[in-house]
Amino acid sequence: MKNFKRTTVTSALPYANGPVHIGHLAGVYIPADIYVRYLRLKKEEVIFIGGSDEHGVPITISAKKEGVTPQDIVDRYHKLIKESFQEFGITFDVYSRTTSQTHKELASEIFRTIYDKGGFVEQTSEQYYDEEAKQFLADRYITGECPHCHAEGAYGDQCEKCGTSLSPTDLINPKSAISGSKPVLKETKHWYLPLDKHEDWLRQWILEEHKEWRPNVYGQCKSWLDMGLQPRAVSRDLDWGIPVPVEGAEGKVLYVWFDAPIGYISNTKELLPDSWEKWWKDEDTRLIHFIGKDNIVFHCIVFPAMLKAEGSYILPDNVPGNEFLNLEGNKISTSKNWAVWLHEYLKDFPGKQDVLRYVLTANAPETKDNDFTWKDFQARNNNELVAVYGNFVNRSLVLTHKYFEGKVPTAGELTHYDEETLKEFANVKTEVERLLNAFKFRDAQKEAMNLARIGNKYLADTEPWKLAKTDMARVATILNISMQLVANLAIAFEPFLPFSSKKLREMLNMESFDWANLGRTDLLAAGHVLNAAELLFEKIEDEIINAQVQKLLDTKKANEEANYKANPIRANVEFDDFMKLDIRVGTVLECQKVPKADKLLQFKIEDGLETRTIVSGIAAYYNPEELVGKQVCFIANLAPRKLRGIESQGMILSAENNDGTLAIITPEKLVKPGSEVK
Ligand code: MF3
Ligand code: ZN
Repeated sequence: MKNFKRTTVTSALPYANGPVHIGHLAGVYIPADIYVRYLRLKKEEVIFIGGSDEHGVPITISAKKEGVTPQDIVDRYHKLIKESFQEFGITFDVYSRTTSQTHKELASEIFRTIYDKGGFVEQTSEQYYDEEAKQFLADRYITGECPHCHAEGAYGDQCEKCGTSLSPTDLINPKSAISGSKPVLKETKHWYLPLDKHEDWLRQWILEEHKEWRPNVYGQCKSWLDMGLQPRAVSRDLDWGIPVPVEGAEGKVLYVWFDAPIGYISNTKELLPDSWEKWWKDEDTRLIHFIGKDNIVFHCIVFPAMLKAEGSYILPDNVPGNEFLNLEGNKISTSKNWAVWLHEYLKDFPGKQDVLRYVLTANAPETKDNDFTWKDFQARNNNELVAVYGNFVNRSLVLTHKYFEGKVPTAGELTHYDEETLKEFANVKTEVERLLNAFKFRDAQKEAMNLARIGNKYLADTEPWKLAKTDMARVATILNISMQLVANLAIAFEPFLPFSSKKLREMLNMESFDWANLGRTDLLAAGHVLNAAELLFEKIEDEIINAQVQKLLDTKKANEEANYKANPIRANVEFDDFMKLDIRVGTVLECQKVPKADKLLQFKIEDGLETRTIVSGIAAYYNPEELVGKQVCFIANLAPRKLRGIESQGMILSAENNDGTLAIITPEKLVKPGSEVK
């Protein structure tokens, strides 16, 4: 391992297009903050960079919807997000924004340097243009019919119904979301970062030199590299963003994923106008990016390629990327309001930032997606923070006040059992450090909690309250040891639960504390005067939790109603029109996945006369094997269509739940294949 002099820690810049929620906190900001607090406690040189990501198409769409400017949107959310982070004790050294002047200048400058070095490829292509609105249309601004599932309202980059990635020209009957008119194809020039030319060194750098990266991060990089990298456009036809600083680029801006990561650097520069470069250009600086899994390719492949092309920057040493946090079994979704918003949590649970910090770290989605439930939140608070940590601290302090007037008593001779207990926590420092260095935050926090468990067991086994009548010398020893353990807890939990550690230090009257002292058994001298004991944590009652669960149930209900409204019964049709559809029952003879199309299954169906092939977008809901032998209903006279090169001779009918999941329609009794459905 290389010896670095300092560490630059970045955390993904959230889009200033909505408030932040527990998923953001769990995935990125809490782990980053724990790590930075830990390095600061070790007195290492570290800087922690945050900020808002304020460009990109979705922000312009929000603005349009509300009838305000994109700047209004980002001003509102930048402020809200910044405040939420502050409240949760995320200790950024700087939290700035990508609409800052410093950023605009630096992003242009970096683009220009790469451009001058010949690091981009210029390419003209045809893109959809809205002749009424006189502008090119971003993928998200084009809607139409999905070529796979035939849902209306698919976007130019993706069909949200069946999940297929699309490009705008795949859409059937495309429509501009701005004017509603039919867009036309028109030539436009863009600049591309030729990632294909960077592939060799990226392979060597990631796959050979960074095998220590988390398996999920390493694995995603490997699969990208194995598929082969393609040039990526780094400019867009859009009027919100940083102008492309080249002749002949009027009306074009930098692609948001080009400018945003440069925001890390600009924000450093804004904070340290004279010394920012050592944090970004010195080989002795270690760069760490904290991100969520949807950002992996940008931080491990695209941004490093940009920096390499520029030529004067260091590359990340590690990219601890997390998986996702779900909420009560469902994916967190801003548009469906399926989230616990930080600003709302703060209103509902004032002063309980550490509880959420604790629970989110205990459930951190480090190796797989994880689930946040209010029941678990309550259980971890009541059974761990209150019953283990808080209880041990409280008992130790209260007993010391009771028997020794709040002064740490002098330890007498140690028994074998005392020594065993002390030994158990002597190595906590090594253990917590090992885990934090490896970005294993949930295990590290567990280790800290283990200290409190040791303490609780020690008190339960020695029962000083019983000895008080007979052996005060023994009570003094036990409480001395307990108080040393409590002092250790204040240090060990500092990176994880900073608010509680502060409160505890006040109770302990412990001014200075030093990470280096963690594990020592003489942190509080005999005679040291303690302050009054207060409860560190309090029990959370069922009704509080039920109210939160109810709030989510209400959201679910509202979503269902909205969904129903969005899918009203369509206009009447004549009987003759209905009769034009030939719906039949068939028996599934074979069923298999369509290679390279994760949504599609290919069926062979016995239809009474012959066998036919039908391709259907239901792979997410069924294993092919479980469908073989089943009877299905299908439209037998739908004009054949090609899907992924396979001719589909019909369409299998299924019912769609309002969460988008599908269930195949099957007759209630077995019927002869080919039977008509009327
Ligand atoms: N705004 C992006 C997201 O929320 C993250 C940007 S990270 C940066 O997914 F590196 F580009 F800043
Ligand atoms: Zn679709």
